[in-house]
Amino acid sequence: MSEVVSDISNRPLLEISDLKVRFQTRDGLAHVVDLERLSVDEGETFGLAGESGAGKTVVAMSIFRLIPSPPGIISGGRILVRGRDVLSMREEDLRKMRGRKMSMIFQDPMSSLNPVFTVGQQVTRVIRTHERLSAREAEEKAARALEIVKLPDPGGTLRKYPHELSGGMRQRVMIAMGLSCGAELLVADEPTRGLDVTIQAGILKLLNEIKRETGMTVLFIANNLGVLARMCNRVGVMYAGRIVEIGDGADVFRKPAHPYTMALLAALPRAETRSEKLAVTEGFPPDPLRIPPGCAFRPRCPRAAARCEAERPQLLEAGPGRLVACHLAG
Ligand SMILES: Nc1ncnc2c1ncn2[C@@H]1O[C@H](COP(=O)(O)OP(=O)(O)OP(=O)(O)O)[C@@H](O)[C@H]1O
Ligand SMILES: [Mg+2]
Repeated sequence: MSEVVSDISNRPLLEISDLKVRFQTRDGLAHVVDLERLSVDEGETFGLAGESGAGKTVVAMSIFRLIPSPPGIISGGRILVRGRDVLSMREEDLRKMRGRKMSMIFQDPMSSLNPVFTVGQQVTRVIRTHERLSAREAEEKAARALEIVKLPDPGGTLRKYPHELSGGMRQRVMIAMGLSCGAELLVADEPTRGLDVTIQAGILKLLNEIKRETGMTVLFIANNLGVLARMCNRVGVMYAGRIVEIGDGADVFRKPAHPYTMALLAALPRAETRSEKLAVTEGFPPDPLRIPPGCAFRPRCPRAAARCEAERPQLLEAGPGRLVACHLAG
């Protein structure tokens, strides 16, 4: 586990509790996120995993209060960043916080980069919105940011347009932009989506290196739990808008406790995991309009018991540093 940087303060930088996000749809109110708790310590790389539709992006957008409303509504909860609640903050304070204290790398770098401006124009613009620098100084800083993300020929890359770069290079540019404003918390929402697993691991490794230099805290969202568990200090697994398991990355990888976590790991190619095997779960996550009572995973769970249908499992401690929402855990 040499990739994992473990210079963590144990002071939470981000604390989410009882977050409820709903979307008004034609067919009714969709209960998209119902997250009991999630905290990320200063200096930590926290990996958030879960199938498509689990609510990972909605959580990330909520942290920045960027849920489109309507149709979305944050109907409850608290999101503390350094102890200050993002959800009740004045718009003006929030704007200062975005970028300065926390920044986000979005899922789709092609749609986040503007095709009509050069990479240099875009990176320097980000830098100059947060720091009073001359054009020349901002350009130097932009080149340094590209160097940090190991883009070859930073000067040349700054003069290019996004379409002239490969997918992996564009993602590195996005990360460079995320880093340029010197934010303490970086939320990276699947910046490696669509790229292969090695690139995903490479980007995580890079973030860990940058973290070692800057002390930055990272919330990294992805659906490959195998990569996250090996590269992150801790991981959280989401299912149907809820957290089902949180724990030390290496421990969860070796010994997952929630049946859903087991299924996610078992679905990875053989070479990636040695963890306890569980028949790969069939079926689909529930429709957020009709989340079943009790445990949301119950209809797909090979171990489900009567209690799982009747009672929603709470996220409880199931070992050192491990939280699990399952009646059958432990
Ligand atoms: N604007 C919206 N209106 C209605 N429903 C929405 C809206 N945005 C998101 N949702 C719903 O919220 C749920 C969670 O979506 P989200 O994008 O957070 O999933 P995700 O875990 O990020 O998935 P992926 O791995 O595919 O990125 C989905 O069921 C989605 O349909
Ligand atoms: Mg997403």
